[in-house]
Amino acid sequence: MNIDQLFSSTTKKALQNDPPGEWMPNIPANCLRLSSGFPAPNVVPVTELKQAVTNLLDQEQDLPLHYVGTPKMELLPEQIKHRLEQRALSFSSDEILVTAGACQAIDLIARVLLDEQSVVAVESPTYMEALEMFQNYTHQFIEIPMDEHGMKTDELAHVLAERKEQGLPMPKLLYTIPSFQNPTGTTLTNERRRHLIKLSEHYQFLILEDDAYGELYFDELPIPLSAMDTENRVLYVGSLSKVIAPGLRIGWVATTKEMVQTLFWFKKDLDHPFAQAIMSQYLNENPLDRRLKELRTAYKEKCDTMLEALEQYMPRHVSWYVPEGGYFVWLKISNIDTSALLDDATKNGVSFLPGKYFFLHEEEGREWLRLSFSYEEKEEIQQGIKRLSEVLSQM
Ligand SMILES: Cc1ncc(COP(=O)(O)O)c(C=O)c1O
Repeated sequence: MNIDQLFSSTTKKALQNDPPGEWMPNIPANCLRLSSGFPAPNVVPVTELKQAVTNLLDQEQDLPLHYVGTPKMELLPEQIKHRLEQRALSFSSDEILVTAGACQAIDLIARVLLDEQSVVAVESPTYMEALEMFQNYTHQFIEIPMDEHGMKTDELAHVLAERKEQGLPMPKLLYTIPSFQNPTGTTLTNERRRHLIKLSEHYQFLILEDDAYGELYFDELPIPLSAMDTENRVLYVGSLSKVIAPGLRIGWVATTKEMVQTLFWFKKDLDHPFAQAIMSQYLNENPLDRRLKELRTAYKEKCDTMLEALEQYMPRHVSWYVPEGGYFVWLKISNIDTSALLDDATKNGVSFLPGKYFFLHEEEGREWLRLSFSYEEKEEIQQGIKRLSEVLSQM
């Protein structure tokens, strides 16, 4: 039987997109991975998590292994609430929905808000998995260009005013990663943050604020958009993937109680009570503030190493944005197609992510690439940049 014919019209449309994870490069084993947006292997707290699992099962026995919650798991929204307070965000625990990573939160929001006619505004470039998720629901996008200070809100204002005047559909949702963006590493200035909030009020759209990297600042803690929002327009999405362990899949959305209830309609049991209970136990036993302080220092040092190596080795036609936190450096190589460069780079033992995967229109990313300083150690980062420069000098 040909099952494809039974797919819903939304599924048929979604299947016309590239398959999920198409952007993931095939990296030979001996390659230095400047492509990976993962935490470094040595910062994943394996020993502490092992201990948390043992303690959890000693204390709660079979409970975390059933469908329903456990006392530990139910503590997690409360623990997240305390973390948010440190970001000047005030939510009660029933305004926080724990999800299977930030990805599930983004998907749920898209599912609840979007249909084929909905218009979504996105930064250009942006996190490719979010683009994949949105494209499962709609193909109506407005792309807002970025510079070294994040999304150009004046361009957004211009596009919105023009659409309004021409009677075109207005966006329902704007997706942004205002702090240490993926892939550009940029941080939206406070002035632009205020402008964005004003625009959302004026044109009545919601903002999905993805703050996956927000706590990994080098010097200054950015103020989340959500803290500037007085009309419940911001759906604030967070994650513990970048600061603890992505495999546990712990994220959340903080919004109104009503929206949490609606999102829950579709989330139901599609997450992991066991992983949530482990995370809660781990957070109880291991102060996250101390860990975050160590991570910030370690990632800042690695970022400095990458920036110094870029200064030392890169030819003049290469430029980059200097990040203030997060995992990434965004590089422009004039007159070079970075996806063609990847093959030679991996042959020379270094990987990166070509810029094209972060744009809806691939050609816009032709001369750009994303480097990650999170995964490799300082010496390897330096070596990786040297290897990349060798490939460039042969072109
Ligand atoms: C901006 C952004 N949001 C969300 C995620 C995924 O977060 P999670 O692992 O919590 O689903 C990533 C991971 O790369 C990311 O870069």
